[in-house]
Parts: sequence; C-alpha cells; structure tokens
Amino acid sequence: MSYSYTDLLALLGIGGAHPGGLALTRAIFEELQISEDTCILEVGCGTGQTTGFIISNYPCSLHAIDAHPTMIQKATKRLNQHKYPVTILEANVEKIPYKAQMFDIVLSESVTVFTNINKTIPEYYRVLRNGGSLILIEMTEIHPFDENEKKELIQFYGIKQLLNEQQWEEQFRSAGFQEIQTIHVSEEHFVNLEEDFSEFDMSEDIEPKLFNKLENHEALTLKYKEKLGFRVFICKKN
Ligand SMILES: C[S@@+](CC[C@H](N)C(=O)[O-])C[C@H]1O[C@@H](n2cnc3c(N)ncnc32)[C@H](O)[C@@H]1O
Repeated sequence: MSYSYTDLLALLGIGGAHPGGLALTRAIFEELQISEDTCILEVGCGTGQTTGFIISNYPCSLHAIDAHPTMIQKATKRLNQHKYPVTILEANVEKIPYKAQMFDIVLSESVTVFTNINKTIPEYYRVLRNGGSLILIEMTEIHPFDENEKKELIQFYGIKQLLNEQQWEEQFRSAGFQEIQTIHVSEEHFVNLEEDFSEFDMSEDIEPKLFNKLENHEALTLKYKEKLGFRVFICKKN
C-alpha cells in the first residue's frame, strides 16, 4: 500500500499540522470578535486540535469537516472526550454540505492548497454570510520554483497547485472577495512559542515505511526552506 502525505498525518494523528501550529491559531483568534451568535466552519479540521481550542475558548456555534476518515475518527474521539458541542462531518470542501450564507467565519489551516481551488474558494464564498471572513493559513511560494522542483513538491504533498502570494490573492478576488489582507508571519517565532506542536495520536500497526515518508517530508522542508513558506490571508465577503 502506498501512503499519501495526508495519510501520514492521519495515521500519526498529528495535531496542529499547519505552519505556526496552535500558537499562530491562538494569535489569529485573539484579533477576532466572537460571540455566542458567531457561526464558524473549520474546513479540513484534521485531528481537531484547532476545533478543540476554538470551542473550549469561544462559546460559539462550531462545525468542522474533513475528507479523511481517520482524521474524522480522531477529531471525533478528541471532541467527544470533552463533550464539546461541535458538529463534525466527513465531507469534501469542494462541495460543502451546508446551505449558503450560514457562517460568519470559514477557517482553513493548510487545507485549501490540497484541493481544487476553482471549486473550493467559491464554496467558501457561498457558505459565508455578507460581512463574513475567510481565514486561511496556506503554503505559499516565496521565491520561484523551477518546474522540476514544483513537480517534486506537488507530487510529494499531493497538493493541487503551488501559488505565490499574488496568485492566491487573485483567486480570492475572482471568487468575489473584495477586501484581502495578507499577513507575513515568521514561522520560527511561532515554532519557538509552540508547546503543543508535536502532538500525536498514533494509529496501531503503523508500517515502518510511513516513517520514511516523514523523513522525506523533513528533507524537503530543509531543501526548500528559502523558497517555500506560508501566508495568512483574511478575505472579507462584503
Ligand atoms: C495538512 S492537514 C491540516 C489539518 C488541520 N487543519 C491542522 O492544521 O492540523 C490537511 C487536512 O486537509 C484535509 N483535506 C484535504 N483535502 C480535503 C478536501 N478536499 N476536503 C476536506 N478535507 C480535505 C486533509 O484530510 C487533512 O486533514
């Protein structure tokens, strides 16, 4: 059996599988106005670390979706343990199973890059209320990759595209978002702060070759550390 990068994250049960980890999520949420009436959709929730953080700190209405069954199983286990009132669904963000204009915030932490953005970003726009915000932390090309390098990354991570900052912004604009704020964050800053970054909920009977994949990921991160980064985007639907 061959494993995808997402299988690796799911089987190891990695919590906070986005750059900056929970520390960055916390910093973003400190800037938001959230009340009991706020309705949030977290897409690609993974094992639910952020989901648990939001619901235990902000008494809002929270929904989380992910396409990977193992992620859903681990997120459900985590959130059930605390009896948090969160709706968790196995679903594809390219076809979000919610009606239009339901959410004040849609949150994507290292998810959208794995999807067909021509479908996903319009879906985010559809389910957001007017005045709502799409918040993303996404892998971003910082310095240009050549075609072979790009191919290597796309193949390894199973991402659908590698975009630079301007290309991301164009995608948001063409889906209808009018105000786009792009934030440059130093990952080192958040990694140094991050006490929860290395959280694991490992599945049983993990094949040793899965750890080779983890090593490959670490090697790629090192190889492209000058060229590959991430951005935080906050896109408003007016
Ligand atoms: C890098 S992980 C990030 C997980 C989580 N947001 C976090 O920060 O820990 C990417 C997640 O996106 C999910 N994902 C990828 N494509 C998806 C899709 N089309 N629909 C729903 N979830 C998807 C994967 O299953 C995985 O859980």
